[in-house]
Amino acid sequence: MTVERAAEMLATARHGVALTGAGVSAESGIPTFRGEGGLWTKYDPVKVSSIDSFMADPTSYWRVSKERGSVALAARPNPGHLALARMEAAGHLVAVVTQNTDGLHQDSGSRRVIELHGSGRTVQCLECGTREARAKVQARLEVEMPPRCPICGSIFLKPTVVLFGEPMPVAAINEAYELARQADVMLVVGSSLVVYPAAEVPLVAVRSGARMIVVNAEPTPFDSFAEVVILGRSGEVLPEIASLING
Ligand code: APR
Ligand code: ZN
Repeated sequence: MTVERAAEMLATARHGVALTGAGVSAESGIPTFRGEGGLWTKYDPVKVSSIDSFMADPTSYWRVSKERGSVALAARPNPGHLALARMEAAGHLVAVVTQNTDGLHQDSGSRRVIELHGSGRTVQCLECGTREARAKVQARLEVEMPPRCPICGSIFLKPTVVLFGEPMPVAAINEAYELARQADVMLVVGSSLVVYPAAEVPLVAVRSGARMIVVNAEPTPFDSFAEVVILGRSGEVLPEIASLING
């Protein structure tokens, strides 16, 4: 019933927009942040993932990032990512706005991906600006903790992701809000919707008249604004919706 309704809404969408969170990558093996087994149930995000803690001691950041990076760099898109890419290719989605930094939407073929929290695939030296592929830095972490800039020797190498206390990428936020304002269907997948301003995106869409679908493993604070709420795993639900849309 609800999957059929979601398929109908997306089949007729002229400006469908998806907002995704860590839950859409869970079935690719990347732990989420909250909920069962989430990263923030093991570590205090302020201590290991804020710009202040990073600048005070990059090692505490890189110890956690080394563990998460080895999983994220090996991860492949799951059927949920692939279904979103199919929906975009068929014109039912115009973009995927994501809080994820793992690059799996791009790997799965999604073409218009707005990364609100940056990309974990690149590392930048905060002193001289040198950029390197995250995979290259990952390879050094066994013998270099914290990793050093190969050009200036700085220990302030940071993945190009938004840490707590850092400003969001303005262009990405503006583009996401513009997409939300024009959206007629807003598909929210795999997010606890507790981190702002990302969590504001679906609210902007609903306030502008969009119909909302939520696909999540557990209830979210925005379920009451949604026309359809599907409790389930995105890797199963999204392919089901995609195949119903395409008949
Ligand atoms: N399918 C669908 N939903 C799932 C699945 C799954 N297989 N597995 C987990 N979930 C749900 C969880 O129930 C949870 O509600 O995905 C949600 C993930 O929530 P978070 O871990 O809070 O991830 P997210 O909402 O993306 O966090 C936002 O917080 O720490 C910051 O920068 C980080 O981008 C992140 C932001
Ligand atoms: Zn440098």
